[in-house]
Amino acid sequence: MPLFPESFLQEVADRNDIVDVVSSYVKLTKRSGANLFGLCPFHSEKTPSFSVAPDKQIYHCFGCGKGGSVINFIMEIENLTFPDAVAFLANRAGLALPENGSDGERRRRERMLSLNRDAARFFYSQLVAPSGAAGREYLAGRGISAKMTTAFGLGYAPNSWNALTGAMKSKGYTEQELFDAGLVRHGKSGGVYDTFRSRLMFPVIDVRGAVIGFSGRIIGEGEPKYMNSPETMVFSKSHNLFALNLAKKSKRGYIILAEGNIDVVSLHQAGFDCAVASLGTSLTPEQARLLSRYTSEVVIAYDNDGAGQKASQRAIGILEKLDLKVRVLRMEGAKDPDEFIKTRGADAFSLLLEKSENHVEYRLRSIAAKYTLDTPEQKVAYLREAAAAVAELSSAVERQVYAMRLAEQVGVDKSVVIDEVERSRAARLKSAKREAEKAAVRTGSRGRARDRSIRYENERSAMAEEGVIRLLYLDPELVNEVSLTPEDFTSPLLGRFYTAVREKALAHAPLSMAALGGEFTGAEISHLTSILQQPENLANARIAMRDYIATIKEEKYSAAAGDDPLAFAEQMRNKKGYGG
Ligand code: GTP
Ligand code: MN
Repeated sequence: MPLFPESFLQEVADRNDIVDVVSSYVKLTKRSGANLFGLCPFHSEKTPSFSVAPDKQIYHCFGCGKGGSVINFIMEIENLTFPDAVAFLANRAGLALPENGSDGERRRRERMLSLNRDAARFFYSQLVAPSGAAGREYLAGRGISAKMTTAFGLGYAPNSWNALTGAMKSKGYTEQELFDAGLVRHGKSGGVYDTFRSRLMFPVIDVRGAVIGFSGRIIGEGEPKYMNSPETMVFSKSHNLFALNLAKKSKRGYIILAEGNIDVVSLHQAGFDCAVASLGTSLTPEQARLLSRYTSEVVIAYDNDGAGQKASQRAIGILEKLDLKVRVLRMEGAKDPDEFIKTRGADAFSLLLEKSENHVEYRLRSIAAKYTLDTPEQKVAYLREAAAAVAELSSAVERQVYAMRLAEQVGVDKSVVIDEVERSRAARLKSAKREAEKAAVRTGSRGRARDRSIRYENERSAMAEEGVIRLLYLDPELVNEVSLTPEDFTSPLLGRFYTAVREKALAHAPLSMAALGGEFTGAEISHLTSILQQPENLANARIAMRDYIATIKEEKYSAAAGDDPLAFAEQMRNKKGYGG
């Protein structure tokens, strides 16, 4: 059942002109033709390849391929789900959300959020109850203050198989609802039991303040150390960060990215109120994008072990893609920020922050750690690798500075290092250029499918199929000229687009990307947008449509005849039976 009636989606789209909405995020300028251009907010670029078509009410980036309606734009840039993006835009236009039975999913989401909130309250009440001594003792042992306990809404899941279940049932939640939220599990005998038992509970709170899930740490030692809520309709580990609800209010101007929940609480307690943690995964691109909404600088403070170092390297790559400034903390003599603050104090941590390395220094140090530098071979190998890292810097001055340092460190002439850096840089630029050219060919002006999941079996037919969809979208009246069935389409995705567009056209319903949005995935919508974005001359629309249809049928016959020209001719002679 659709979340929102189509008429409502249409109204939301009508009242939120895409140019107005996009303009509050991207500076758009008019270049030529009807379209506006700007720097794409979804990938980093220096020349504008992000376009907005006011007539079609769509956006499309020629660089990264993203595109869609105003709703897709909001989903992407505000990091919202489809229903949330619709609500966001409805709110922007002063429209009330429709209240009817068709928004069952919305209601279920709201129920789950209120269940999570009640569960968080329950865990908190257990922590302060007489029976919560174990939880309180653990917190005291880790030096976590009462103030932090309330700020984070920490709680205690008692040592019981059904304490939470009982409490939530008495509040009117069903076992099914508890199960859907990941708060209970099914036992062998068919009943349910509490997921979190004897654990210190960290509610995961999103940037809007909703409790979306939980992390539970075992009290003391044991396995597994942490248990997280499963993925639910309101919780996705890869799209959220622990404590971002608090960190986003910090005035520090940067965000500290730590590994552990305990580290985050410790950091906040020591006054570093900008700390967050990725929820037990290594940083994902979605989490990085979320961070980039709140800060332009990230300080990585991962654990001081092999896994932490590896995770740092990965995170650097992801954050840099978004043009975020990245620094890395060097915590010597402590395994993590929590231990560092406990043993050295908050002031020492402040010093650490001041001295934290930018990512180049960090990388050079990690590279140096691999070599002993005591033989000429070692020195050469080190220089090669280090020069390649320096070559990635876009500023010539910076390259000079680091080249000089390298020269001193290894004991060679500065010019040797500079030569090596520039040589490596030239090679890099050349291969980047080749890559770009290859990408340009791949995505060519004919709008070939760029998403690997959207591949065309028969390119020639697919181009004609795209043409049919484009024409129908631009001029729905043409629907009467088209006798194709979805099965005539060699691309299943194009067949689905065709069906959706055709249905709307036949019903004289308004056609817009916004109204189609709910039926397709983000990648599919981007692809559809790239099809619609291409020029089409409506003056000859009828003739063009006939050509497209003829091409599709031709390809169909030749495919059926297995590319044998004689058999193809045979087919053409006998083709009466072929529908169309
Ligand atoms: P302390 O050892 O008490 O300092 O815990 P910590 O909060 O610092 O966590 P740690 O550094 O050990 O782990 C970092 C993060 O990885 C945790 O906050 C969890 O999100 C996640 N994590 C750790 N252990 C587990 C586990 O056993 N299972 C799962 N799913 N996640 C874990
Ligand atoms: Mn830790």
